[in-house]
Amino acid sequence: MHVLVTGGAGYIGSHAVLLLLEAGHKVSVFDNLSNSSPESLRRVREMSGSAPDLFIGDLLDSDRLDSVLSQTQPDAVIHFGGLKAVGESVQKPISYYQNNVVGTLNLVSAMEKAGVKRLVFSSSATVYAESTELPLVEGAQRDASNPYGRTKLHIEQILEDLAVSDSSWSIATLRYFNPVGAHPSGNIGEDPQGIPNNLMPFIAQVAVGRRSEVQVFGNDYPTYDGTGVRDYIHVMDLAQGHLDALDFLNSHNGQYVWNLGTGSGTSVLDVIGAFSRACGRQLPYKLVDRRPGDIAEYYGDPTTARLELGWKAERGVEEMARDMWEWQSKNPAGYPDYDLDGISEEEINEFIRGARASIVKEK
Ligand code: WQD
Repeated sequence: MHVLVTGGAGYIGSHAVLLLLEAGHKVSVFDNLSNSSPESLRRVREMSGSAPDLFIGDLLDSDRLDSVLSQTQPDAVIHFGGLKAVGESVQKPISYYQNNVVGTLNLVSAMEKAGVKRLVFSSSATVYAESTELPLVEGAQRDASNPYGRTKLHIEQILEDLAVSDSSWSIATLRYFNPVGAHPSGNIGEDPQGIPNNLMPFIAQVAVGRRSEVQVFGNDYPTYDGTGVRDYIHVMDLAQGHLDALDFLNSHNGQYVWNLGTGSGTSVLDVIGAFSRACGRQLPYKLVDRRPGDIAEYYGDPTTARLELGWKAERGVEEMARDMWEWQSKNPAGYPDYDLDGISEEEINEFIRGARASIVKEK
């Protein structure tokens, strides 16, 4: 198949692009490179032996989207592109609604014009209402508690309406829990800009010496050790879930929802312990006040994904920490910071293909 991947140069996107290429699919990537680097796609090409075609563009540029969809004519789209920081969304709701909701409307409109009606959408477990009993099942009540989560909820509802309006659409909504880890080679991984909001990348930066200690946000929660409990899922398992959803859509019309999680929760202290074992030293941490907006625990029930997709998480927290450490220790500062000003899209694609090594300068 020919798959167009929005946000395909990013953290989860690059892992999905790798698996798609390794499975023999043709891949086009649509990415504005606002929170990603072409370096991830160059390394994906080195690892898989095949190069995706990168189309640099913004989901808010509907003309660009229309032309890329009509030019590439993909069989399906996997939609990762969007803004994803909960805290930032509280400060910048307009930017989040524009990029995530309007961006997705632009995407499905461009798809419809191009006659492309197979879509895998990257949603989030934050759409579940906080009061919902655990483990979270797909039919549980939805009620997001921050603008980021509300954009994901609105997009889910838009896609539900789209599927009702036109039965020729095949749509998979995937609700992730906490994506962590990296490809076991350590060649690609999570490269957050600035201070990481999320636990695992912050711990990884402590382990590699970029940060002094982990701050544990609260140890008075009603959980097994008092610290927050979450359903961490290895990014390789998550990427595989996207390919399995894509295969399912090849033979099913309509709109489907699946949780992609392990079905069990791990505490902050246990994540710190796993990472300490992975990097070979006890990582320093400090117990501090709760972070506003956090809940004690949530984890998902992945039964329907297992029954309907044949998917289940294969990797546990020890492997998540091991693989994340492999990435972070080999890339202490993340990907090189390239100066792309004045570099054409074709030159960047030649760089990804390995045809030209030197044109993209490091800052
Ligand atoms: C995990 C646990 C914190 C940082 C968010 C989004 C979710 C998804 C993943 C996009 C919590 C604790 C954290 C730190 C800490 N993103 N923590 N010290 O908040 O569960 O989920 O990111 O889809 O939608 O809501 O992830 O990694 O920020 O926090 O103690 O420095 O770690 O309190 O218990 P979260 P997280």
